[in-house]
Amino acid sequence: EKGGYDHFMLKEIFEQPNAIKDTYRGRMLVKEGIIKMAGVDDNIEKFLNANRVIIVACGTSWHAGLVAEYIFEDLARIPVEVEYASEFRYRNPVITNKDVVIAISQSGETADTLAAIKLAKANGAFVFGVCNVVGSSIARETHAGAYTHAGPEIGVASTKAFTTQITLLTLIALKLAKVKGEISNTNYRYHLQELELIPEKVQKALESDEHIKAVASIYKDARNCLYLGRGYNFPVALEGALKLKEISYIHAEGYPAAEMKHGPIALIDENMPIVVIATKKGHYEKVVSNIEEIKARQGKIIGIVTEGDTNVKKLADHVIEVPETLESLSPLLTTIPLQLLSYHIAVMLGKNVDQPRNLAKSVTVE
Ligand code: F6R
Repeated sequence: EKGGYDHFMLKEIFEQPNAIKDTYRGRMLVKEGIIKMAGVDDNIEKFLNANRVIIVACGTSWHAGLVAEYIFEDLARIPVEVEYASEFRYRNPVITNKDVVIAISQSGETADTLAAIKLAKANGAFVFGVCNVVGSSIARETHAGAYTHAGPEIGVASTKAFTTQITLLTLIALKLAKVKGEISNTNYRYHLQELELIPEKVQKALESDEHIKAVASIYKDARNCLYLGRGYNFPVALEGALKLKEISYIHAEGYPAAEMKHGPIALIDENMPIVVIATKKGHYEKVVSNIEEIKARQGKIIGIVTEGDTNVKKLADHVIEVPETLESLSPLLTTIPLQLLSYHIAVMLGKNVDQPRNLAKSVTVE
């Protein structure tokens, strides 16, 4: 049941501190500096000998794959490609037995993702599944895998599945970085310690709920909305826009902040709300200058900032704070206010938050 919350989506948003803990529990031993996951440990040679990793997924899971691309390349120095399963499977893609394919799926039943897995297997690739639903088709079809352990996700809009997928993929990237010797012991230990602190920082981010609700009430009647982010937070911008589209039916687009000047800037006027992820680490000054460009065109700025930020606060119409963390872990925090913003807007508009029109929890048709 909804456990006192008005909707499953809200319940699942608030479950994220525990869900993330459940994802790393027993796998990440911080004091010992160990990450253990049977599915990875038993196939470590496959990962280490891989020419590249190809991630296949759809929707929100595809966004988690994009975040993983940054983490795998940055920390483990393994080349990664992220593919929409639906495009990959029909493209006659180049796949060899030196490729590792990671399939990400909350439900484990998405038809296109399943078909991409079968294609990859037929071409000799090693296929690893990241699923939430235990015993699902994708979990069974893959050679090995790891479950996110997020618990049942009932709301059609994916929330805790996304943050737990990112958590799990971060563990895999850190493990590979360590085994490959790509990360210093100090930096590795530091990542584990910071990851362990994420649940309490997510909790802190959730405490802005009332403030976010107030911001939502100002923008609920917008017809369009832009989401901008850079680096690790570019995929978060895409995910924020998807959340708004699917439950409130407001048209939204996510962009890498620097792409704004190549087109979307033409859309900006006093009626355009723009959510900008501008946390302290990672291209901060560049994002601040993007914010100045928006400001000069009278766009309404909602900044997602690091606690205590003053620069963006001066420029933005509203700021929503998240605790400080490593840049590589920041998507786990910056996602939270975007989920809540979409949720509150959809509720204020009287939409069916848990079961948006035209959408199904698992897309078993292609
Ligand atoms: C968005 C959403 C969808 C799913 C997509 C993939 O909130 O729920 O975009 O993420 O249909 O589903 P899974 O992860 O079950 O393969």
